Amino acid sequence: MDDRIELVQSEALAAVSDAQDLDALQQVRIQYLGKKGSIQQLMSFMKSLSREEKPAFGQKVNLCKQTVTDAVEARQKELKAAALVKQMEEEKLDITLAGYDLEIGTVHPLMMIQQEIEDLFLGMGYKIAEGPEVEQDYYNFELANIPKDHPARDMQDTFYIDPNTLLRTHTTAMQMRELEKARGGLPIKLICPGKVYRRDDDDATHSHQFMQSEGLVVGEHITLADLKGTLEFMANKMFGEGRKIRFRPSYFPFTEPSVEVDVSCPFCNGRGCSVCKQTGWIEILGAGMVHPHVLEMNGFDPDKCSGFAFGVGLERVAMLKYGIDDIRNFYINDQRFLKTFDRFD
Ligand code: DAH
Repeated sequence: MDDRIELVQSEALAAVSDAQDLDALQQVRIQYLGKKGSIQQLMSFMKSLSREEKPAFGQKVNLCKQTVTDAVEARQKELKAAALVKQMEEEKLDITLAGYDLEIGTVHPLMMIQQEIEDLFLGMGYKIAEGPEVEQDYYNFELANIPKDHPARDMQDTFYIDPNTLLRTHTTAMQMRELEKARGGLPIKLICPGKVYRRDDDDATHSHQFMQSEGLVVGEHITLADLKGTLEFMANKMFGEGRKIRFRPSYFPFTEPSVEVDVSCPFCNGRGCSVCKQTGWIEILGAGMVHPHVLEMNGFDPDKCSGFAFGVGLERVAMLKYGIDDIRNFYINDQRFLKTFDRFD
């Protein structure tokens, strides 16, 4: 009978150490230690033993049961520890693994031009002013000396929201707001960059939305020569040293006299090329002396002060500076285009 106990015990211990995971160990436990398990079955032999033999036999079976129970518990600890190690292996974070590169955007070329203009005028003591894109007819046209039914309104096809409200067609609207705000106070020295809108069909050189910056200086004894010096300085900064500018007579209702400003062609240095159509000059902006009537309407005395103003198209400057031949490139946000302006590359 003792052999039988030993056999069951050694079988059970072998099965315990063979169990490779907790499920398998549980099966072994049921098989040997369960209610109908092999060790319990040994007890059934008690019946066939004599009174004297029973206690010793019972003790041996209990010892066997205890030995197997201890072995199961020990193995369970081992398997649990192994399972934990495995789980930690599987869930391990490899902190040496290279992360994903964050896509960093680029400064939009129009913003680069705007910032360049802002920097150079701030350096000359100008302020930067802002104004609304949804503007009143009053500031966009009336105060700029363009009353209703004035033919000059046709120069700028307008998006109207209602008869008195529109999308500003030029940054000159901000010039008017600033003049009104100053209430005759001198001097005024500011630029106003921003978006403007016109009912144009989009093509390579036209866009229904584009950017301008207005410039305005009002003070005592401001002359056309001040305007010329200022614009020459700007042209040299924007297009490289050695640029010349020239004035051609023009017409704007809010300036008198009005001029169209050309810069000597930066591509051929004024000798004549396909970009400047062999003229050596490229038109860059409109300007003039603030019209006395505009000064008056805004509370300034044109006998005591004068001023110059200009309006420059930022797309035009960017296209010339970077050799871009289609204005639509600025708005379709094609990464291949925008990335060519990446300062961090
Ligand atoms: N507002 C004009 C335009 O959009 C540009 C302009 C011309 C602005 C002459 C001025 C100026 O301030 O003096 O075409």
